[in-house]
Amino acid sequence: MMTDFDGKTAVLTGAGSGFGLECARIAMKKGMNVVLVDVQLAALQAAESEMLDLAGPGNAHKVMAVQVDVSSETAMDSLGAAVLARFGAPHFVFNNAGVGSGGLVWENSAKDWMWVLGVNVMGVAHGVRVFTPMMLAAAAKDPLWRGHIVNTASMAGLINAPNMGVYNVSKHAVVALTETLYQDLALVTNQIGASLLCPFFVPTGISQSHRNRPENLAMQGKATRSQRIGQAMTDKAVTSGKVSAADVAELVFAAIEKNQFYIYSHPKAIASVQTRLEDIVLARNPTDPFAEKPVIAEQLKAALRGEKQPQ
Ligand SMILES: NC(=O)c1ccc[n+]([C@@H]2O[C@H](COP(=O)([O-])OP(=O)(O)OC[C@H]3O[C@@H](n4cnc5c(N)ncnc54)[C@H](O)[C@@H]3O)[C@@H](O)[C@H]2O)c1
Repeated sequence: MMTDFDGKTAVLTGAGSGFGLECARIAMKKGMNVVLVDVQLAALQAAESEMLDLAGPGNAHKVMAVQVDVSSETAMDSLGAAVLARFGAPHFVFNNAGVGSGGLVWENSAKDWMWVLGVNVMGVAHGVRVFTPMMLAAAAKDPLWRGHIVNTASMAGLINAPNMGVYNVSKHAVVALTETLYQDLALVTNQIGASLLCPFFVPTGISQSHRNRPENLAMQGKATRSQRIGQAMTDKAVTSGKVSAADVAELVFAAIEKNQFYIYSHPKAIASVQTRLEDIVLARNPTDPFAEKPVIAEQLKAALRGEKQPQ
């Protein structure tokens, strides 16, 4: 169980915005060395200068900022080497960078799949692959050494809402990866924990993820009707979320201290997970995940069938 953060090292991907930035703020306040990782240079630089201010005079050595595309094998290998050289094995690794894309699942291009799975799944896989062995080596050398890995999935990793299939697939993969990580770590050590962050809609930059979509995986042609509808609905759901990214970051640190695996921003939303799991156990056909809010399903259906645009 990791309860002491002062003087320890945190690596946070997606640190330029949203949950990554809020967790970096808390890590700084707890006296940690902070490695900020993001692909968006301006956001990364803004986060770096804020963390340098928080660190105070004479503490610039506690902050490291690296522009990295987490989907890149070689960039993540270099990041690992740079972190190890500067701080040694990190104690808290937050594999959090992620992107979203929506629309009817057969309308997504191969590039949509490669981009979203590259960042959301391979980004987390690289973080686990690169940092876990360093953490295990540090733990083996010192019985008092403690570490924790938190991977960001989503409620979309636990249910399958319509019109966002690629994102759902990517987040279900993060759930599988992280539950397995938890089990695998338990086989070999008691000194490193793992948690899975599953937020529901929280106001961050997530619905504008296309800002970081690389040229080589650029969207081909115009967005389809379902993609435009998906974008409008996600914009609305994300911006009207009542729980803040700062609240979620507090939950992340509280979970690390308790060695709690599942971290939910909206515990009430778990009812839909229970319904899905009952569907599976009872071999019942999948229930509409919007059953609790039929107006959303009705709007979506009407919009897709051309009867009415979403509100
Ligand atoms: N906000 C929500 O409603 C919500 C809900 C469920 C899950 N999530 C997940 O939370 C995580 C964090 O997202 P957020 O909501 O803070 O959004 P955000 O857009 O505010 O932050 C994500 C950060 O990741 C960075 N990023 C994007 N692609 C990258 C790449 N290839 N390499 C490195 N960095 C990259 C972005 O530049 C950005 O700074 C994501 O995995 C997202 O899927 C968000």
